[in-house]
Formats: sequence, structure tokens, C-alpha cells
Amino acid sequence: MKESQPSAIYLKDYQVPPYLIDKTELTFDLDEATTVVTSRLHMRRNPESTQQNAPLVLDGGEDVKLIGVAVGDCALPAEAYRVNEDKLVIDSTPDAFVLTCETLIEPQNNTSLEGLYRSSSMFCTQCEAEGFRHITYYLDRPDVMSVFTTTIIADETRYPVMLSNGNEVERGKTEEGKTVVVWHDPFPKPAYLFALVAGDLAVKEDVFLTQSQREVALKIFTESHNIDKVDYAMEALKRSMRWDEETYGREYDLDIFMIVAVDDFNMGAMENKGLNIFNSSCLLASPKTTTDDNFLRVEAIVAHEYFHNWSGNRVTCRDWFQLSLKEGFTVFRDQSFSADMHSDTVKRVEDVSFLKTAQFAEDAGPMAHPVRPASFIEISNFYTLTVYEKGSEIVRMIHTLLGEEKFRAGSDLYFERHDGQAVTCDDFVAAMEDASSIDLTQFRDWYSQAGTPIVTVTDSYDESTKTYQLTMTQETLPTPGQDSKVALHIPVRMGLLSQEGDLLPSSLDGTVSDEHVLHLTDFEQTMTFENVSSRPVPSLLRGFSAPVKLRYEYSAQDLLLLMSSDADGFNRWSAAQQLAVNELTQLINQAIQGQALSVDSTLVDGFRALLNDGSLDPAMVALILALPSQAYLSELANPIYPAAIKQARQHLKKQLANTLSEEFERTYHEHNMAVDYQATAEQIAHRSLKNTALSYWVETGTEAAIAALTKQYETADNMTDQFSALSIAVHGQLSNAGDLLASFYQQWQNEPLVVNKWLALSAGQEQDNALQHVQSLMAHPAFDLKNPNKVRSVLGGFGQNVSGFHNADGSGYRFLADQIILLNKRNPQIASRLCTPLTRWKKLEPTLSALMKAELERILAEDLSKDVYEVITKSLN
Ligand code: PHE
Ligand code: ZN
Repeated sequence: MKESQPSAIYLKDYQVPPYLIDKTELTFDLDEATTVVTSRLHMRRNPESTQQNAPLVLDGGEDVKLIGVAVGDCALPAEAYRVNEDKLVIDSTPDAFVLTCETLIEPQNNTSLEGLYRSSSMFCTQCEAEGFRHITYYLDRPDVMSVFTTTIIADETRYPVMLSNGNEVERGKTEEGKTVVVWHDPFPKPAYLFALVAGDLAVKEDVFLTQSQREVALKIFTESHNIDKVDYAMEALKRSMRWDEETYGREYDLDIFMIVAVDDFNMGAMENKGLNIFNSSCLLASPKTTTDDNFLRVEAIVAHEYFHNWSGNRVTCRDWFQLSLKEGFTVFRDQSFSADMHSDTVKRVEDVSFLKTAQFAEDAGPMAHPVRPASFIEISNFYTLTVYEKGSEIVRMIHTLLGEEKFRAGSDLYFERHDGQAVTCDDFVAAMEDASSIDLTQFRDWYSQAGTPIVTVTDSYDESTKTYQLTMTQETLPTPGQDSKVALHIPVRMGLLSQEGDLLPSSLDGTVSDEHVLHLTDFEQTMTFENVSSRPVPSLLRGFSAPVKLRYEYSAQDLLLLMSSDADGFNRWSAAQQLAVNELTQLINQAIQGQALSVDSTLVDGFRALLNDGSLDPAMVALILALPSQAYLSELANPIYPAAIKQARQHLKKQLANTLSEEFERTYHEHNMAVDYQATAEQIAHRSLKNTALSYWVETGTEAAIAALTKQYETADNMTDQFSALSIAVHGQLSNAGDLLASFYQQWQNEPLVVNKWLALSAGQEQDNALQHVQSLMAHPAFDLKNPNKVRSVLGGFGQNVSGFHNADGSGYRFLADQIILLNKRNPQIASRLCTPLTRWKKLEPTLSALMKAELERILAEDLSKDVYEVITKSLN
């Protein structure tokens, strides 16, 4: 452990910056070993600061070497400034001046992938959140917005493509014959949106005509062997640009929009102004190498980063506590876009499943934090599901409360009022309020209160008066640092069904409708519905109108009714999911108690009806048939017995497969169509149902099923079908799984993104020697500890591996802890993310819990990066 431990910074301590930087001129003399960065910052004191005599304190990093600094034309003598750890402090400055700094950095030794680094043969940057300080000394905070001009000097034979934000304005040669390219970005921006790329890259070009008839040049750059995989991203980009004009009235503002794919990247992608940088796994797509899920992910991320141009770049965050201002809103925008491009119900089910599995777990664990955190040690740890996904749910609730039209008026006002500014979540809500005249005072608490509210509903029906009463309570359990909780404003969209499954209109506060939005604002409230002709079944929380845990005692009959008849597609899925959860909960309990597992007939009957109803959307049928995941059941469980959950799922799947084998076989064939691959909603739906049916059918172990799987694997002309067959073989533990895995690697060894899928699947393979197997994968030539995608594939895949990771002797936890220690210094962000499974130790059954805790303590004994330190200490608290 270190002597002095990192300390937290607090939202309540926010102060405006003492200095501003109107213009930033950067020159990069690019070199792999030592790059020289010269900055000329046109600075002045901020008239709004109360600290008019404060020294100038610039952010830097231990990896930045200061060569010289000048104010105006005068080089500063050594006594006029000092470098304190990672800050450059200049005690006195004029009110307005140009600060020149010369610094040296070492891109090829940069393994953290923050700042300027090398990926394959190229240079690239990553500056969000606080990466720019690893390039040069700066006021590295989002409320300092500046106009950037960037000069890149490099050897053109190796770096023919040299890019930065904005427009290329000059090109020339130095005396030594190097190429000089100058980029200028007219829009003021914080340093976190700065980007630079240089390399020998291929480009795919296109043009977009904006709604005001301006031509925008679109360019996607990749290493030359990948340029045949960018067509889909380009089309997705054009769809995004059109959608943002039509849906939000937002037009693109520069004459050029560029995207670059890089292999080594900590996150998915980055919205640098005019120059988005993508993890290649989130950009490249082709039918032969990319699954349907991955196609949709590429489209969603291209859209997400593009949408940031307004929600993030034109209007940015005042400080990092406001991260959800841009991320929550932009996730909401990309989710709405994908819903419009494909099926809104399918998209909603996928997003909510993810939220309820992963965000709910985060919100119930030691890292739980509000969507607008009140403090942090390391901001990189707060790019979380809470900030992104729950943040998006908050925006969605505002949309529900205001309705489509007022919401649009609110977003128009927000963009108009704050264009060019760095603002807060509160400014966002204020714009929504001002444009709609709807009071969101209480609603604002969603930003500051952590934890998932539990909403419990009871009801009663009075036959004689035809009135129906719903009593709702809300409770949010304590989270770290927040012992007592307030009542939130929770919008509950709902409707009533008759016992026959028909719509049952009702009158609430004088409004007669099939559907109402209830406002739960107190800890307990009763709503009375009039003119309800018969005893209803309530359909609650339609479309998942609020991120809460809903508790209502539905009978199995109620759930079957909702599943088959509710007007809300999302709630039809939700009822089916609840039915499966109920069934699995029983089986899990039987497994824990060592009893024989016995399956009830309700779910089987429900699934049979589903498989026999040809009128349903195949994508929805597939979603319903997919049993609740190990991770979701773990989130629901307390304590968690991983092996019992696995056993229960396997048992239920086998029972369903055996009882409904004919249905699954027929469904497989019905949806197995010969078509030219396209990533359209319709085709994706058929493939997904077909492959779900196959996953059941092979559970019967019949020769016909195995033969169908093998044939599909061998003859598939697209990655979705090939990889589905392979995954089913692996997860179904078929005897040919090992052979198929070997042949798959053989076939795809030269396609790194496919190899990553192979690594993840191999690492997730349940087997007796799972741990040794994962260790051998890390020694495999396809593995590379420097590449976050590969680390995530292997260790992420292993984290899903019940028999390997949750090994009874704790060896799985020890192995993961070893990897965290190994990566702690090299790449703190990745190391910190790998800690997530270990943060759940308190919820595990006692034996595993103790083993996991011991590993956290072992990690804590190391000299830790801020990132890992924060997660480990909070987890042990
Ligand atoms: N801002 C990026 C996004 O959501 C995410 C990101 C954060 C990427 C930090 C890199 C580093 O769109
Ligand atoms: Zn984002």
C-alpha cells in the first residue's frame, strides 16, 4: 500500500476556473519514442472567478516532461514556476497573456491508452475524461472551452494521413522534408474533445446533404485490410444524421465528419469534434464476420457518437459530476433511434433486460452512486451503467411526463439556450420545465438519489360500486453514503385488462382511458378508478416507465393472461419473464436444498401456446423463450448460489426441450430461410428465433438435432448462424464442441474481431479444468495483454463461467485478482473494470463470499492506481 492514499473530490466544491483559454495552438512533432508538443495558450483571468490573485495551476501528468515555459516572449526562469507532482504552478501572470509550453511525451511507452499512444502502426489520442493532461499542461476541465488549431509534423511516407478536429487549412513541408498539416476547429471545445490521428490509413468517402442543403464530406478511415468492412457504418452514419434532423431538428455543423477505427481502445468509441475515434469492434461489420447483435451495436454506437455532436459537444458538461447530462441524454437518443430503425418493443425489451441485470446490480452494490455523483476519486470509474443507462431512463421519464411535443420543445430550448456552453443536469431539467410549464422540482431527486426504488402494489375491487383501488408504496434501500431516502416522483404507465384479456377502460380523476400515467410521489398513495365494469388484471409499469423494482402478487393465471393479451408488447414480455423467474426461483431453492428438481406445467403451457401462435413477431417469441440469464437471476438472488442457479437453468431448459421437442424442431425449420444476408429487423427476427429453437432442440440430444446444428455450422454464409451453432454446441456441452471450436479458430485466425469472439466463447466453456483452459488461452498467440478487447474477451468470458470462476476452492477469484494486479499499473482503467465481479462478494453465499473478500484484500495490499484503489476500498467498506 502507498503512504498517502488518493483523495476524493466533491461536487459541492465546484468553482469556476480562475483562467480562461480563448485559443489553443498545438504543434505535434510526431515520433514513436519521443514526441515534442508545443502549446501556445491564449489565456486571460476569468472575470467571473472570485480568485483573482490565484496562481495559474495547470494539469499535467507524470508522463509529461516539461522542457520550457514562457509567458509572452519571456522564457520563465526556474524560480518563476514549479512542477508539483502532476501540476505546473506559475505564481504570477498578467491578466491576459500567451503561455508557451514545450513538453515531451513517449507514445510508444503509453500502455494506459489515455493521451497520445500507438495502436498498431498508427498514432491516436484519447482525451476523455482527463487524458489531455497526459499530452501537455492545460486547464483540463470541461468548462474551459477553447478554439483549437493543431499542427502535425510527421514523416509522410509512414503517416500519409494526419488528422485532427475541424478542417484541414494548410499543408506544407519542413526543411528536413517532413510533412506539416494544420487543422482548425472553429467551435470552442473542452480539451476532452481534442483528437489527433496519424497513420497509413485507407479511407471510404461519402457525402451527406443536410436539411439546409449543405454538403458534408463523410470519411471513414481504417487500416487498409479493414476498409471493406465500413459500408454498414457509413450507411448508419447517414441514417443518424437524417434522424437527428428529423427528430430533434439538429443539423451537422462542420463541412467534414470523420471516423477512425483503432484496435487498441479502452471503451467503445469517442465523440471528438468532427473526428470520432472508434474501437474497431464497434465500427467494422461484414455479414461473414459480424453477428446480428454486433451489426446493431455498430449502428447504435455510430449514432450515439454522432448525436454527441449536439448533446455533448455543442452543449457540454460543466464538470464531470454532470457526465450524465451528455451520456444519459445521448443514450436515450440512440435508443430512440434504434427503436425507430427496427422494432421499438424488441429494442425496449433488450435495453430493459440489460438495465435490470447490470445496472440494478451496480445500484445495489458497493459502487452504487447517484446518476449525478456527489464525489469521486477517479472519474474514469464513473463511466457506469448508472450514469449511462439509468441516466437515459431519467430522460425517458421526462419524455413520459411531458409527452412527445413538449419534450421536443424542451430539447429545442435546451440547445438554443446553452449552445456553446458547459452546463449542468439541472440546466437540462430547467429547460424541460420552462418549455413545458410542468413542475419537475421533486423529479430532480432522481439525479441525486442512488439505489433502485422498490414499488409495491396491492389492489382491491368493489363489485357494487365498480371501483378499483390501487395502493402503491415506494422504498429505496440505503446505499453507501445515503442512509435515508426521499420519495421520488415515479411515473407509472398502466392499463387494466378484463379476465378475458380485453381492454378495460376506466376513469381516473375524471379522465376515461385504456391507459393512464399514475404519478407516485409519496411513500404511499392510493388511486381510485371508477367505472371499472369487472374485476381487472392490472398491467403495470408499461414500457418500463420507471427504473424501479415492481412488486405485485400476480397469479400464474394473471401472468399467462398478460403474456397473451396485454396491449403493451413490453408487458407481454415482462409477464412471461416473471413466469420464468417464478419457476426458476423454485428450482433454485430445490437445488440449494439438494432436492430433486421438479418443473411445474404453467411455463411449459405458456411456451407451447407461444410456439403454436404463428401471428407473433418471431423476435419477441425468441426473447420470451430465452430464459432469464444467470446474471439476472444472480441479481434477484440473496444470497447467490451460482451453481444452483446454473443447475436450475439447465434443468428447466432440458425439461422444456424434451416436452416441446416437436415444436422446437418445427420452429427451427420454419424460420431457417435461405436469404441473402441483411441486418434488417425482419431477417434478424427469423434468425434469432431459429437459433433459439435450435438451442432447445439440441438439448434433446437427438441425432437429427445435432446433425442440423452441425450442418448449420458448416454451411452458414453469415457469422450469426455460424457463431450461434458454435455457441450452442459449446454451451450445450455437445461432444463435438471442442472440434468445432478448433475448426472455427482455424478458419478465422486472421480476423482479430472474430478471434475475440472465439476467445470469449472458449473462456466461457463450462468444464472441469476451466481455469487451466483460460490460463492456456492467455498464453495463446491470439492473446495480447495490451489489447483491451482481448483482455475483455478472455476475462469477461471467464467471469460468466460458473464452474471456472466460482470454483469452490477460490482459484477462479485468485486468478482474476492476479490479472487485476498485473494490469493495475499498465492500464488502470481496464484493471478497474475487471474488478466488477469481485465487488459482488457480499451477496454471495458465505463460503464463496469469504474467498472473494480475501482476494480483494490481497489486491489492496498492492501499490494501486487511483482507479483500482477506489473500487477495491469502496467494495471492502
Ligand atoms: N464519451 C464516450 C461515449 O460514450 C465514452 C468514452 C469515455 C470513451 C471515456 C473513451 C473514454 O460516447
Ligand atoms: Zn457517450
